[in-house]
Amino acid sequence: MLPVAGLILLAYLLGSIPTAVLYGRIFHKVDVREFGSGNAGATNSLRVLGKKAGIAVLIVDMLKGFLAIFIARKVLGSDESTLIIIGFAAVIGHLLPLFAGFKGGKGIATSFGVILALNPYGALICLIVFAIVLTLSKYVSLASLMASFSFIPFNYFRRPDEHFFHAMALALFLLLLFTHRENVKRLLAGNENRYPPK
Ligand code: G3P
Repeated sequence: MLPVAGLILLAYLLGSIPTAVLYGRIFHKVDVREFGSGNAGATNSLRVLGKKAGIAVLIVDMLKGFLAIFIARKVLGSDESTLIIIGFAAVIGHLLPLFAGFKGGKGIATSFGVILALNPYGALICLIVFAIVLTLSKYVSLASLMASFSFIPFNYFRRPDEHFFHAMALALFLLLLFTHRENVKRLLAGNENRYPPK
């Protein structure tokens, strides 16, 4: 029990590293949360600070989720139900970062890192769905949500009996839907930001 609690805390702390905020402050002397969509994530870093920032933030935010699972797996072995709880902690850290006033990002890149570490095939499906939806719609938010949704049926077909894992995949999607609630409103109103912008 103790190692699990410690790993959950470690995952939360890893997730709490505010990559976008640090990048903006160090290299551009701005807080990225005061510009664009106000989100401390890769998409808003790309939008506000440029391509290099977007890529750097994307990679480090993904790594936070990936490392949380990688370390936990080394300690605990491959009990995926426990690992996904630890992955959740990393995502929560990213959303509510201890090191940035609990105002973080929307959790897509960190969730992707978690999924990549848990199941690379699942991550590949998410990536394909993301690329298709982004290419067709030019909405990063819609592509992100559709990609995270695709992890639910993927898991269902992969192993229909693992109900806890399905519930957690659904919970992760619902959490991401919640963090994207303003994006959803804008999508429905037809004024969501596009990438590349028109
Ligand atoms: O992962 C965040 C992305 O889906 C949307 O970001 O900045 O357009 O709200 P943003």
